[in-house]
Amino acid sequence: MAQKIVAGNWKMNLNLNDAKALVQNVNQQNKREDVTVMMFPPALFVADVAAESNGIKVGTQNFYFEEKGAFTGEVAIDQIRSVGGEIALIGHSERRSIFGESDALLKQKVDAAVSAGFDFIFCCGEPLEIREAGTQEEYVKAQLEAALFHLPKEAVQDVVIAYEPVWAIGTGKTATSDQAEEMHAAIRSWIVDSYDQDTAEKVSILYGGSCNENNAKELFSCPNVDGGLIGGASLKADAFCAIIDSF
Ligand code: 13P
Repeated sequence: MAQKIVAGNWKMNLNLNDAKALVQNVNQQNKREDVTVMMFPPALFVADVAAESNGIKVGTQNFYFEEKGAFTGEVAIDQIRSVGGEIALIGHSERRSIFGESDALLKQKVDAAVSAGFDFIFCCGEPLEIREAGTQEEYVKAQLEAALFHLPKEAVQDVVIAYEPVWAIGTGKTATSDQAEEMHAAIRSWIVDSYDQDTAEKVSILYGGSCNENNAKELFSCPNVDGGLIGGASLKADAFCAIIDSF
């Protein structure tokens, strides 16, 4: 069975004091042991957040695939690990669209993480014009085939996938539970096609995009939605814990 996961992507928000207070407050409020909770603070705060993590899995929103060297502004997997980070996002839509990260680069990041034995959440999702054209399934399938489905089965079964329709991110316009379930079911069926049923059942598929304490219950009740990757609503302990409690 896929793990239930609620992950907070803080993006470029909060200062160090806010970050520490948030992880402490979530720890105080959260009583759910059946849900894996993850936090993705700015890389600068990973050490401090990890020091307070108390079972929360802490990681970065990005990393570079090289082990070390002259890559100004980047961080490597070994550096993330050395401060207590255990996981990273790969291919968030903001990395793809604002920072121009290509499928080819994301594939290199996926390969670097797998060879280092480092966990990651692979993000995918279509922009508005693709949704309006009705070709979202082909689009998302192509993203997965370009950077993820080359992995062997043993690696893929440990991967977490986040489906984040770009038109729902930060817009307050969440996908309906039917739209989410339709895409999640399609993603799981492609894993069956590329690998097998057993592998597909082990992969957690998270929904992201204006998921909050009011709509999480309905989204998480979909059979193929194993949790959420939460942006704005992960910045407040009450809202984030209410989302965790929506399972
Ligand atoms: P919002 O929850 O703010 O829409 O952001 C979603 C997201 O991009 C999480 O990675």
